[in-house]
Amino acid sequence: MKKIAIFASGAGSNAATIIEKLSNNNNIEVALVVSNKDDAGVLKIASHYNIPTLIINKEIFFRGNAYVNELKDLGIEFIILAGFLWKIPVALINAYTGRIINIHPALLPKYGGKGMYGLNVHQAVIDNKEKETGITIHYVDEQYDHGNIIFQATCHVLKDDSSISLAKRVQELEHEHYPIIIEELLAE
Ligand code: GAR
Repeated sequence: MKKIAIFASGAGSNAATIIEKLSNNNNIEVALVVSNKDDAGVLKIASHYNIPTLIINKEIFFRGNAYVNELKDLGIEFIILAGFLWKIPVALINAYTGRIINIHPALLPKYGGKGMYGLNVHQAVIDNKEKETGITIHYVDEQYDHGNIIFQATCHVLKDDSSISLAKRVQELEHEHYPIIIEELLAE
């Protein structure tokens, strides 16, 4: 059984689809949900599935051990970022080299980096009159929304799209692909 942790700051819709899909996988266990916000929606999802949670403290995360010991003690082998808005400290990247992945709601390297989250991303895509957008799943390095790309999927940007309608289309792609890519990576 490979134990993974999901890191999320928000509603946790991706976390929910991942947890649901992996509940049918006998080789992977979502053993921990980590959040930087004690009122994040993802915590309710974790509690619904009886998954332990960890609320992290900024000081310890960035200036302490980045929770490496805690994660190792729990046997966490792989980290999935699903809407986690803090940068990952080098200490954690070094402890989990090649074993932290992220999803971003755009076709990186475009529309990534600091400030590019939520509806900002989709509004920027619309403002630039892009004809297509999509999702990127990538390994995590020291920079926001950077690191080697594992997978991308695209969808159209329609003439009358708002950031909200576009976000919905992109989110459907996320839910369709992220759990499958995770299963594939962890089967290796
Ligand atoms: C997702 O769209 C994810 O791609 C994005 O946060 C959202 C979380 O939604 N991540 C980033 O923008 C990373 N830079 P969720 O809480 O409903 O899963």
